[in-house]
Amino acid sequence: MNKFTCVGDIGSLDMAIREAMEIKKDRFAFTELGKNKTLLMIFFNSSLRTRLSTQKAAMNLGMNVMVLDVNQGAWKLETERGVIMDGDKAEHLLEAIPVMGSYCDIIGVRSFAGLKNKKEDYEEMVIEQFIKYSGRPVFSMEAATRHPLQSFADLITIEEFKTKPRPKVVMTWAPHPKALPQAVPNSFAEWMNATDYDFVITHPRGYELDPKFVGNAVVEYDQRKAFEGADFIYAKNWSAYTDPNYGAVLSTDRDWTVDSDKMALTDNAFFMHCLPVRRNMIVTDDVIESERSIVIPEAANREISAQVVIKRLLESL
Ligand code: CP
Repeated sequence: MNKFTCVGDIGSLDMAIREAMEIKKDRFAFTELGKNKTLLMIFFNSSLRTRLSTQKAAMNLGMNVMVLDVNQGAWKLETERGVIMDGDKAEHLLEAIPVMGSYCDIIGVRSFAGLKNKKEDYEEMVIEQFIKYSGRPVFSMEAATRHPLQSFADLITIEEFKTKPRPKVVMTWAPHPKALPQAVPNSFAEWMNATDYDFVITHPRGYELDPKFVGNAVVEYDQRKAFEGADFIYAKNWSAYTDPNYGAVLSTDRDWTVDSDKMALTDNAFFMHCLPVRRNMIVTDDVIESERSIVIPEAANREISAQVVIKRLLESL
């Protein structure tokens, strides 16, 4: 594997899950693999979990780690070609990328959607330029349209907690005051569609995701009906994908907040969220604090998903 941006890059999910479980048993079994190798983590956007879990995963593999926050202490970067650079951006990504590549062996990139131009966002210009010009294996730490390290951790978590071979997994939109990208729900849908789970998506009308990611999932506009018999509830907000509302907040209707009444419709489902989460917008205090909430083991599995991915990239060097 010499890049990781989507589910297709990981190959067999069964093998990936087996590898994750092996790593979980002994995180330090491959400390020689990363010796004298350097991971550069580049953040265009803020992070808590991705930053810490990915750094820990690389350290488990014996790597050195460098972290660059592009918007804090680095030159402001221009990302578009052809721009007359007479503004506040001092350096172009096309010089910065190969320079960064010369200091490291593997690169992780976080770069969110701008939510202004759908075509640009869905072309994944930033991470694709890193893949093209860095000369290094590149992995996504959340790009404009996908968050594969999160989805892989979500899959590991479901595999650990499921009590039936084909659980019903429901991804529900929930309200949020700000416009958020579609990366997490797109990616979660893409990974769930690669399993044989019973996968349902529920959201208000107007929040339809890119059909490419929805795939064969059942879309149910009645949230309560969607919750019936569910084994896992995966809550997430996203902004509108469809034109002319791309990137807009169409609703902050708290009737869509996940609460204990709705959880009572499920088959004693586990509650999941990628975090950070806005309490009493996305989910009520009692649900996220309940014994069926698995948001903390889900976040902990970010270390494991990152370690599988970085290990495979190291093996490709
Ligand atoms: N879930 C997730 O990616 O969290 P951070 O944004 O804190 O990294």
